[in-house]
This record gives sequence, structure tokens and C-alpha cells, in this order.
Amino acid sequence: MAPLDPHSYADGESPLTTHVALTLYLDFATCSLHGSALLTLSAPHSGPLSLDTRSLTIHSAIDPTSLSPIPFSLSAPDPVLGSRLSLSLPSETPLSSILLSFSTSSSSALHFLSPSQAASPFPYAYTQCQSIHARSLFPCHDTPAARIRFSALLNIPSSLSAVMAARHHARRDPIPSEGGLSLPDSLWCAPGRIVEQFFMEQPIPPYLFAFAVGHIVFRDIGPRTRVYAGPDVVGEAAREFAGTEEMIRAGEKLFGPYDWERFDLLVLPMSFPYGGMENPRMVFLTPTVIKGDAAGAQVVAHELAHSWTGNLITNKTNEDFWLNEGFTTYAERRIVEVVQGEERAALNMGIGWRGLNRTVERFRDNMEFTKLKPCMQGVDPDDVYSEIPYEKGFQFLWLIERQVGRPVFDEFTKKYISTFKFQSIDTETFIDFLKANVPGIENQIDLRLWVEGTGIPPDAMEPVSAVYNKIKTLASEFKNGQMPGEDEVAQWNGQEWELYLENLSANVDPSQALALDARYRLSESRDWEVKVAFLELAISTGCKEYYAEAERSLKQVGRMKYLRPLYTALAKCSEEGKMLACRIYAESRNCYHPIAQGVVESILSKHA
Ligand code: BES
Ligand code: ZN
Repeated sequence: MAPLDPHSYADGESPLTTHVALTLYLDFATCSLHGSALLTLSAPHSGPLSLDTRSLTIHSAIDPTSLSPIPFSLSAPDPVLGSRLSLSLPSETPLSSILLSFSTSSSSALHFLSPSQAASPFPYAYTQCQSIHARSLFPCHDTPAARIRFSALLNIPSSLSAVMAARHHARRDPIPSEGGLSLPDSLWCAPGRIVEQFFMEQPIPPYLFAFAVGHIVFRDIGPRTRVYAGPDVVGEAAREFAGTEEMIRAGEKLFGPYDWERFDLLVLPMSFPYGGMENPRMVFLTPTVIKGDAAGAQVVAHELAHSWTGNLITNKTNEDFWLNEGFTTYAERRIVEVVQGEERAALNMGIGWRGLNRTVERFRDNMEFTKLKPCMQGVDPDDVYSEIPYEKGFQFLWLIERQVGRPVFDEFTKKYISTFKFQSIDTETFIDFLKANVPGIENQIDLRLWVEGTGIPPDAMEPVSAVYNKIKTLASEFKNGQMPGEDEVAQWNGQEWELYLENLSANVDPSQALALDARYRLSESRDWEVKVAFLELAISTGCKEYYAEAERSLKQVGRMKYLRPLYTALAKCSEEGKMLACRIYAESRNCYHPIAQGVVESILSKHA
């Protein structure tokens, strides 16, 4: 049967899941999850049906109406896809629902933190499903081509609370027998347990399924926005994100109505592996974006922009990932331009341009992943995550904007969103829609080269901005021993420093790095972007002076944007650096989300 998606066992012939009713029991003592999932299919079905799973034990599969068992088998795990759950639905009576019960104690989506790891008197647990980890929380058609609604009962210790990227319905005592067959009342209704109930009425791709459990409090910061966080950070977070409603309004003006009702923000513990994740109704954020200078607004603008591009219109498979991230990067910069001005937006474009060039260089032996639409057969999306879909995608859309003019492009974008909302589409669908709505565009832009070609096409453009150009000039003077003066950096915040450091040539000598740090204390910056950019540079030039700071940082943070460059710089710089990287990882492994563990392990093994 024809596969729908290179990252899923779902086939094109059987019906897909449209609704799932979940009961989940979180056991913090054993770091495990026990659950049941009642899947509803889009049509009654008999015969074989495949679902995606990873690291799940399947206890039973039954027909929920007759309670008769459904024969099933689980394949040996594929390293990328996980295990296929093959069900044989009865041929006499086609089924439109299936009840599964399962457990996991090694879910790649779920991170359990002890109180000390959560820097709290309480433990914590949270999920991260993008790109293909929802299958390790419950058996599902884990492809963004499928859209599901769901209801969820989370059974947790009553000292904690649960939040979800869904509508909260109730916090209440557990009710006997609602845990189903695999969750006996002795467990489900044990003293000290509470149930939090949620509904998600808008259909979402499975990668947007998300919850967190811990000591979580909140502050209202706008008519549809609440910040959720630990009690120690909620105040700072509320201040940092105070401008959120203004951004939502800017987004609505540019892209059409905000269709998700609420736009809440959750600040996670330091181990959260991304800067932000666009879980619907509740964006998940790393605490590293709280810097006290409203810089966190850029990440919020990005995750907010996904409410239109990504969550309303979703990439059909991970090969079309640029439709999510490229469009969102473009939309993010439009929002930033409205709320922070053109100069700030241009600076972000400059940082992006640098990143795009660096990434193309990094992939020079594997140019496939410099394509907007790469072939991902047999490839783990976590292994090839890069700035290409973001920045090459941004460049493509920005070029179209320049060709047709902003007013026409804005009309086009609005029509694109209203036409395809709540659908999952591929790149070809986008291109056809573009050609149909901007007649003649294929004569102005080599669309094929942009979508199928490698590297950076000649009509991509480096952004022009006074601040950006000034910083590049200053960076180019560093080679000759010239450092920017106090007056020149007086107005710089983190992004200016980040851009400066990234533009320094790789062959700086150690004494120069030390001198720069002696003057501007970059290695001690409270801004993680600046600190990590500096440590990466200094360690790559061979400064052992910074090993201790790198170790402290790697033991504090789990965001992969910082783990990747620091572990890579250590592993590459010397035998001693490599040994240090291995020791730090052995001591910090459990503080990282399973996805981050995988990424660090692949860096260390590459340099072994
Ligand atoms: N959806 C991504 C994060 C992601 C991508 C998770 C792929 C898993 C697989 C999110 O919207 C994102 O791009 N986050 C960025 C924010 C930045 C571009 C402002 C991040 O985490 O750094
Ligand atoms: Zn994104």
C-alpha cells in the first residue's frame, strides 16, 4: 500500500484517525506513563490497519462496542520510524473505533524531571512531539497529513497541576472505572491523585499534541493571554511578554483572524530543548528567552505566527517543513516590523542571512539538505534540523514579495491562508496556488531552482540596514586587532553582539578572544545567545580558559541551540576537549530531554 509520508506507517488506503479520547496516568516514581486511547476512524474499516508507535508496550486492542479483542502485532523498531502496530480489524463487522491500552517508561517525547532538575520543590514532566515523537506517547497515525480532535484525562499527583495545548475543562477527583481496563481503580483513584480534563475541538496534526505537569502558576497578561510558569519566574515572564496582545493584533491585521481563541504562554524548566514550540492555544517556551529587554518578543512573534502558518496550514510531510518554518519566519519578521520597527526586523534578517550561509557551508558534503524540499526517506528529522527551511524559505517568500510588491503579496498571503486553513498541504500545492494567483510569476522567478535546487540561488538577497552594515564592518576590522569602542557598543543588546560575533572570521587567535572578553565580559553575559556565541568562538580558537564556563553552561541549559555549538566546539577542538565533552554529557544526560540526548550523542559519536 502506498505510504502517505516517509515518516509514518500510515498508508494511503485505510482511513485515518479523526478523534482520540485519551486517559493518561503519570507515574513520577517510575517515570512512566500508562494510558488508553480510543481512536475514531474517518470511516468504518476492516482488515489490516497500521499505526505508529515508538517505545510503547501495547497491552490490549479491543473493539469498544463488543469488547472483543482485535489481533495485533508490533514490528521490530526501525531506528527512525519506531515500531509498526499492525491491527487486523474483523472482516464481518467493519470497525470505526478501536480501544488500545499501552505503557511506556522510555518515551522519546516525554521528559520527567526530579525536583532538583526542575529547580523546584516539586517534580515536573513535559512533552515535545515535533517532529515524530507523538507516537511515543500513544499509538496514532503520526503524520501531519492527518488531523485529529481529542479529549484527555490526565491523572497526576494532587500536589501538581497540568496544562495542555487544549481547552481546560476541569480539575477534579478521579472517578472509578474511567481509567478503563488497564488502569485499575486501585491506581486511578488512589489517595493523592487528581484528574485534569481537557478538550481540543480544533483538528490538529499529531505533532502539536502537548502537555506539562508540575508546580505551575499563572498571571493574566492580556484579554486572551496568560503566562504559565513556576512561581519563581512568572513575574519576570509576565513583564517580558507584556506586549503579546499587540503582536496578536498585528498578526490578525496581516494574516486574518486568530482562530485558536486563547494564546497562552508556558515557560518550561531550563531543559526544554527548543527556544519555542507553537503548541496551539499554549506556546511552550524556554526560560532562556526571558532577558529583561523584551528580546523574548521575537520568539513569541515566531510561535504566534505559526498560529496561521503551521497550525492552520500544516506541512503535509516533513519534506514540506519549509512551508511551516519559512512562512513563519517571514510572518514573524512582519510582526516584528510592526511592533519593533524596520531596523529591528532588518537586523533579524541579517542574523538569518549569516545563519543561512553558515548552514549551507556545514552541509557542503550533504547538499540534499540545502534543498527547500529535500528527500527525507530513511532520514530522522531531528538529525537534519537546520536553518535551511527557515532562512531559505524566508528568502524565497521575500523574493516573491519584492517581485510582486508588498500590497499584492499581502493579499496573496491572506487568500492562501483562508483557502487552505485546517488543511495539510505539500510544496506542489503551494506552487500551483502561487502560479494561479500571481500569473506569470514563473517567468520572473525560477521556481524550480528555488524548490529543488541546492545552495543559495543567485536572486537571494542580503538585507540592507544601517545597523547590520555597521556591525559587519566592525567585525571585519577585528582581524587587524581592532575592537569596537565603548561608544560604538553602548546601544547594543544581545542581537547586535550575536551578529558581531557570528561575523568574526573563524581564524581569530586565542589572545584576541581573551582580550575581547576582558573588555566586554561576553563569557559572563546573561544573554545566552551572546554567551554561547562567544564560548563557541573562544573554544574553537583553542582557549582552554573557557572550559569551566562551558561546563557550567552545559549543566544549566538543555536548549539544543546552545548544546549543539558547545558540544561540537569541545569535541572538535582537542583530545582534552573531547574527553571533557564526554564527561559533561555523562553527568548531565538525565537533565536533557530525550530528543536532546539523541542530538548530543550523535555529535559525540561523530567526533569519537
Ligand atoms: N516548530 C519549531 C521548533 C521545532 C522544529 C521543534 C522542528 C521540533 C522540530 C519552532 O517554531 C521554532 O522554530 N523554534 C525556534 C524559535 C526561533 C526560530 C525564533 C527555536 O526553538 O529556536
Ligand atoms: Zn517555527
